[in-house]
Amino acid sequence: MSVSRVHGGGPFTADLELPGDKSITHRAFLIGSLSGKTVRVIGALDSADTRSTLGALEALGSGVIRRNGGAIDIVPAAWCSPAAPIDCGNSGTTARLLAGLLAATPISAILTGDASLRRRPMRRIIDPLSAMGARIGAEAGTLPIEILGGGLRTGTRHELAVASAQVKSAILLAATRAGVAVSIHEPGPARDHTERMLSVAGRPVTRLPGGWLELEEGPRELSMPNELNIPGDISSAAFLFVAAAITGGRARVQGLGVNPTRTGVLDLLGRAGARVVIEPEDDRAGEAVATVTVEGGELRGFEVSGGEVVRAIDELPAIAVLAAAARGRSVVADAAELRVKESDRIRGICSGLAKLGARVEERPDGFVVEGGGRLAGGSVDAEGDHRLAMAFAVAGLAARGTTDVIGAECVDVSFPGFWGILRTGIAPGSAP
Ligand code: S3P
Repeated sequence: MSVSRVHGGGPFTADLELPGDKSITHRAFLIGSLSGKTVRVIGALDSADTRSTLGALEALGSGVIRRNGGAIDIVPAAWCSPAAPIDCGNSGTTARLLAGLLAATPISAILTGDASLRRRPMRRIIDPLSAMGARIGAEAGTLPIEILGGGLRTGTRHELAVASAQVKSAILLAATRAGVAVSIHEPGPARDHTERMLSVAGRPVTRLPGGWLELEEGPRELSMPNELNIPGDISSAAFLFVAAAITGGRARVQGLGVNPTRTGVLDLLGRAGARVVIEPEDDRAGEAVATVTVEGGELRGFEVSGGEVVRAIDELPAIAVLAAAARGRSVVADAAELRVKESDRIRGICSGLAKLGARVEERPDGFVVEGGGRLAGGSVDAEGDHRLAMAFAVAGLAARGTTDVIGAECVDVSFPGFWGILRTGIAPGSAP
């Protein structure tokens, strides 16, 4: 296990373009595999999670060609039952979205993952996919699960208990691959990358008033563009934005995905008192893109609940660090889903930030931070969770002493260049 040391230092500054969005990269690979012809994915994220998706596609028989310069070609092919279980690693998106595609494919496959993924709830996809007609064997409602797909019914209706893009996408991808119609009700607007990419591929998903989504019957083979260009990942940028905000610095990220279902973190940074400037660029893969600049300011406490939590769900570890630096009380509520992410992030955020000197109170569905004082720093274990590792590192930038992040290598799950960017972006020694 590697340890990365962060020195509290001067203002964090960065001006760069980030690797592709993780959620959109997974979808480009998976939906690209449904195309009638080869799809070239440009600017894809190359990380442990997205490699899990490519590995799964190869195990099933799709062609994956890695081009010089980083482009990846997804070559369509009929899928066969894989000889061994498919290992989704740490990636919930791989497991849940792939389960949707497998539910519609007349082969049998077993999905499994690492210890963290094998603890995460899968009943939320097993139930709707079974209701559509797939046969899914799962003893405990967790991975490993065995899927025997095919013969899906048309016109099933699903009311989701949680606002989850992975669950909605599993159902939409099952219906798309089967060519059947489906209706889904989501309690809140979870990220809509699947809907956008299906529209680009000629299978539009209609949003009706009252939260229902409808996909009509259509061709099983999609008409994708020859190339999909992936915008930068706002969930990775969030750590750099918070780093700039809490150290009185400036982070400018070009080519960044700013899909409104993902920009809760920008709203919160603004509400906390940071300066946020969004300059629109041309769309990529049906997604809004912009250059976003965040500058530090006088930070004050803020509250997050309801739909805003869904729009910032993966950024809440970074937002907790923002709260620790912001003067006064910040409250995060309605975020119980954080307990079933790569780790129990409510517990992890609270215990980790407390170790670094923050005043944090854990609640069943979130946390309360009394912020504003300077953190002390210290030693903190990321417990295998990439977003906790990055959050603790960013907290360390504004601490008095040094901060050791134990298990630093797990950031490779989503942001392989993170430690290098963090080191080049700070001027050690100059006071924030
Ligand atoms: C994701 C959806 C979210 C998010 C995850 C990626 C996706 O999970 O937390 O990191 O790509 O669809 P849920 O669908 O469980 O909310």
